[in-house]
Amino acid sequence: MDAASADRILGSHKLEVAWPNEPLLGGYYGEEEMEVINKTVRDSFDPTRGFGFICKEIEDFEAALAEYCGTNDCVTVNGAGTGLDMTLMCLDLRPEDEVIVPSINFKAALLAVIGQKAKLVLCEADPQTLCADVADVARKITPRTRAIMVTHMNGYSAPMDQYQEIAAANPHPEFGPAKVIGDVARCMGGMYKGKRNTAGVWMSVLSFHTQKLMTTLGEGGAVTVDDPDLAVRLRSLRQFGWSDGRWGSNYKLTKVQAAVGLVQLRKLDQMIEERRAVAAARNEMLADIPELTLPYEPETVKHTYYLYTLLVPEDWAGAKRDQLMRMLWDDYQVSSVVANPPCHSTIPFIGEYTQGQELPASELLAKRLFCVPIHPCMSQNDNEYICAAVSKAVERIRSGDTTYLEAGEAEATRAITGRAG
Ligand SMILES: Cc1ncc(COP(=O)(O)O)c(C=O)c1O
Repeated sequence: MDAASADRILGSHKLEVAWPNEPLLGGYYGEEEMEVINKTVRDSFDPTRGFGFICKEIEDFEAALAEYCGTNDCVTVNGAGTGLDMTLMCLDLRPEDEVIVPSINFKAALLAVIGQKAKLVLCEADPQTLCADVADVARKITPRTRAIMVTHMNGYSAPMDQYQEIAAANPHPEFGPAKVIGDVARCMGGMYKGKRNTAGVWMSVLSFHTQKLMTTLGEGGAVTVDDPDLAVRLRSLRQFGWSDGRWGSNYKLTKVQAAVGLVQLRKLDQMIEERRAVAAARNEMLADIPELTLPYEPETVKHTYYLYTLLVPEDWAGAKRDQLMRMLWDDYQVSSVVANPPCHSTIPFIGEYTQGQELPASELLAKRLFCVPIHPCMSQNDNEYICAAVSKAVERIRSGDTTYLEAGEAEATRAITGRAG
């Protein structure tokens, strides 16, 4: 987008929706969801049925999810955080066991490792994909590594086959190759080399939280799995040791959520395509801004664009990136978020468990990235306005405008870094 077009759009358009940096409802609902909610609640008035335990709605939803994800089975739970905990519970980790997790991440996976009292080993993120850096995973793996837990960051399907190869080449002497676990909270429906990012993976965790690509009334999640014994273990953990007589608790999704999930799942591909159309138009509008690196999407990957991530050049890292985000918000009302800064250096509780682990590439990457709003319902008008604002703000900084620069990195970061995930 050239400067004249940006000025024209900023002068003539207004944002139709005050988009939060990570919209609070990731998809959309319609009459179909309202009808199943009504029907499912009404059916439950019957005292011989009630709201059920593992009712037909949950069984149907799980079967549909497994089919969609290209896995043998799928176990629904009340959220992805719970699902991540459960994947590690299935490994019965001991304190000397190590789990590799990228620090540029939402904190759930790191907290899951800490919660299971294993050793949290951090790895760098690849600046192109934002996912776990393959070479660094190869450097961090040891004979004590039991799992590699990677997040498909911001909608990009991580190369699970490459982590699996590293695990296979470096087996644990007692337990064999480390299990590769996918956090698919931001990337359900994403494709890698022609297959779903969940296919052929030991376990993957889905989220149906309100901000995610498809939602089940605010909360919800699931774990995909191929191995039938592990499916039994997961179902036991979810429902008081029901199927295997071992320890379990209550991590279930509700019947009404499952009924809504079935409807949302039928809409998921359409909602992703609508995000992709917004992203494609945006990629074109921002293509000629030399300072910006746009989201990476090679032939082998189908991005879900859960977030739309941009990178500024290294010499803009930190202060100028913060200035840009501040300018976008204060001067053009365009929100943005750093998704995500490294957990170990920004979340003190996690830092306590990772002392001495340095991740210089992740620190630099986090100073370069920012995400501007994207949503399947975003109008062309709002997309154009956001692109014009980005284009104008970059142009101002390029020509030496120092507005907000004096605010200092810390203050600017505090002002603009909202919730992501
Ligand atoms: C990458 C990632 N993992 C896990 C979670 C946690 O999901 P849930 O809210 O379903 O527990 C989120 C966000 O909520 C996320 O963005």
